[in-house]
Formats: sequence, structure tokens, C-alpha cells
Amino acid sequence: MSVTIIYGSDGGCTRKIANKIASKTGGRALDIKKAEVADFENASLLILGCPTYADGELQSDWLDHLDKLEQADLGRCRVAIFGTGDQVNYPGSFVDAIGILYDIAVERGAQLVGHTDPAGYDFSESAALRDGRFLGLAIDEDNQAGKTEARVTQWLATIR
Ligand SMILES: Cc1cc2nc3c(=O)[nH]c(=O)nc-3n(C[C@H](O)[C@H](O)[C@H](O)COP(=O)(O)O)c2cc1C
Repeated sequence: MSVTIIYGSDGGCTRKIANKIASKTGGRALDIKKAEVADFENASLLILGCPTYADGELQSDWLDHLDKLEQADLGRCRVAIFGTGDQVNYPGSFVDAIGILYDIAVERGAQLVGHTDPAGYDFSESAALRDGRFLGLAIDEDNQAGKTEARVTQWLATIR
């Protein structure tokens, strides 16, 4: 199975998680700045990673290169999404980017996997939350770094 992780990152946190996932899955982590449409389409498991900025926006490189995802034919892909965020300082838009990318991936024909339980987080609103579940994996290295390793390991076990 070919695993491709495409991420954007301002401060390095999301890059670090993407690299961690790559080493755990034998996949390759690619910065969205360098990714091409074919990188999205040719993975059997495509993992997208994005921090939330500006009270509920995608990270800037994702915004600049969003057309790549919007053009991709994901009809043959399973897609899983992780988002990094800060539930203490941004409780009203916690990991919103997961929800934004999710909707685009669904539109492009992907089969979305890797929904998770929001238990253990403390926030008020999130676009990543639907029907009581997160649409992907929420990582909060700003406040819950100690939980990241177990969250990633458990998540990968459910999606592989
Ligand atoms: C200006 C600013 C705005 C942010 N806005 C949000 C937000 O709306 N929701 C959220 O969950 N996290 C928010 N964050 C937290 C980042 O998403 C979080 O620190 C993330 O780990 C950064 O990832 P990166 O290091 O890969 O860029 C914000 C951080 C900053 C500095």
C-alpha cells in the first residue's frame, strides 16, 4: 500500500507529525508547496495534515496550493486527515482545517476514513466535529503534547 502524507506547516509542528506518520507507515511526507496533483491521486492511502490559523482558516501554503486538491480525482483513494491546533487559545475554531479539507476531499470522490472520538479534548466549537465525531485526528501539541504519540499510533491502527 502506498501511503502519501501531504502537509503544510508554519511553525514545524505539523511537519513533525507528518514525518512521524511517514516513519510509522513507511510512507512519504510531502510539503503541499512541492506536491503535484498526481501525488494526491496516486496514493492508495492519502493522509492530509493542516494546522488551523486565523480563527478557523487553512494554513497559508494550503490556501495557496488548494487548487491541487480541488483538481485531484480521488475516486480510487482512501483519505484520512489530521489537524493540529490549540484548544485553549482557540476553543471556538479548534482544528477547523480538518472539516474544510474533509469537505473538499469528499467532493473529489474520496472515501474518508479515520474519524475519531472527541473525548479528552476541551473546546467549544469545531468545524471538524460532525455528528459527535471528529472527521479526522486532532493533535494539540500546544497543550496536550504528551498525548500525541498514543493518539497517532491508535489512529494509524484504525485506518491501515
Ligand atoms: C495566529 C494563530 C492563529 C491560530 N488559530 C488557530 C485556530 O483558529 N484554531 C486552532 O485550533 N489553532 C489555532 N492556532 C494554533 C496552531 O494551529 C497550532 O499551534 C499548530 O500546532 C501550528 O502548527 P504548525 O507549527 O505546523 O504551523 C493558531 C495559532 C496562531 C499562532
